[in-house]
Amino acid sequence: MAVDVLRHRHVATVTLDAAAGLNVLARDQLGLLLDALRGLREDPSVRCLILTGAGTKAFAAGADIREMADLTEPEGLAYARLGHAVANALEGFPRPTIAAINGYALGGGSELALACDIRLATEEAQIAQPEVMLGIPPGWGGTQRLTRLIGPGFAAELIYTGRRVKAGEALRLGIFNAVYPADRLMEEATLLAEQIAANSPSAVSAAKRAMALAVAGQPDAGLATEAALFAAQFGTAEQREGMTAFLEKRKPVFTGAEPDPKAIR
Ligand code: HXC
Repeated sequence: MAVDVLRHRHVATVTLDAAAGLNVLARDQLGLLLDALRGLREDPSVRCLILTGAGTKAFAAGADIREMADLTEPEGLAYARLGHAVANALEGFPRPTIAAINGYALGGGSELALACDIRLATEEAQIAQPEVMLGIPPGWGGTQRLTRLIGPGFAAELIYTGRRVKAGEALRLGIFNAVYPADRLMEEATLLAEQIAANSPSAVSAAKRAMALAVAGQPDAGLATEAALFAAQFGTAEQREGMTAFLEKRKPVFTGAEPDPKAIR
C-alpha cells in the first residue's frame, strides 16, 4: 500500500498503489493520500497535480469493502468523514488537479476523481457509484459532486442504478473531459498539466478560488471574489510580466513563488 509522489518541473503526479492492482482505498491509503496532499499544497512550486492509479486496471476500485463490512454507525460516520477530508483536500487544493483515470473508478474511486478539477481517462476506463448495490448510499461526496457535475437527472440514474459507465458515455455526459488510448493517458495528462503550469500560477489559483464559489452555488459571492482577486493581481510581478510579454510580442515567463524548503517532502 503506497501513495507515490513524483515531481517533474512544476507538475506533481500522485499515484495510488494498493491491493491487487485495483487500488482499493483502505483507511491507511487515504491517510497517506491526505498527507501527500497536505505536503504538496504547501509547496508553491507545484503548479498542477495529477492523481492516477498504479497499473492498468484501476484508478481506484473504491473504499475497502472488507474494512467497511462490520462498521458500526459511529465508525461509518468517521469513515465518511475521512473520505470527505481527502476529497475536500483535492477540491480545495490551491492549484489545479487532474484525475488521470486509467481503468475502474468505482465508488470512493469515482468520488476522488469527481473532486478533481479535470478528468482524463483511457478508452477502457469505467466510472460508477455502485454503493446502492452494497446496501449503502455514496459516502465520500458522490451525491453532491456527481449531481453538480452532470445535473440531477443523469446523476440520479447513475446513483440509483449503480451501473458502470464506459468511457464514451462518460465523455458525452461531461464526467470525462477527454478519453485517450491507454498508452497516451499520462502523456496527455502531463501535457495538459504543463500547459496550465506555464500560465501565471497566482492567476490560475485566483481563478480556481472564484470558480469554487460558482460550484458551491454562490454566484454573488463568486462575482465579488472574482472582482477582488482580479483587482489584487494588478501591480504583481505576474500581471506585469504577462502584459509586458504580450506587448513585447514574446512568451511570458512566470517565475512564481519560491518553494518553502520546509514544505518539500
Ligand atoms: C475490497 C475489493 C474491492 C473493494 C475488489 N476487491 N474491489 N476488496 N474492496 N472495493 C477484491 C475482490 O474481492 C477480490 O478479492 C480482488 O479484489 C479482485 O477482484 P475481482 O472482483 O476478482 O476482480 P475483477 O473480476 O477484475 O473485477 C474488478 C472489479 C470488482 C470490477 C473492480 O472487483 C468490483 O466490482 N469491485 C467492487 C467495486 C465497488 O463496489 N466499489 C465501491 C465500494 S463502496 P479476492 O480476495 O477474491 O482476490 C465505496 C464507498 C465509498 O467505495 C464511500 C464510503 C463511505
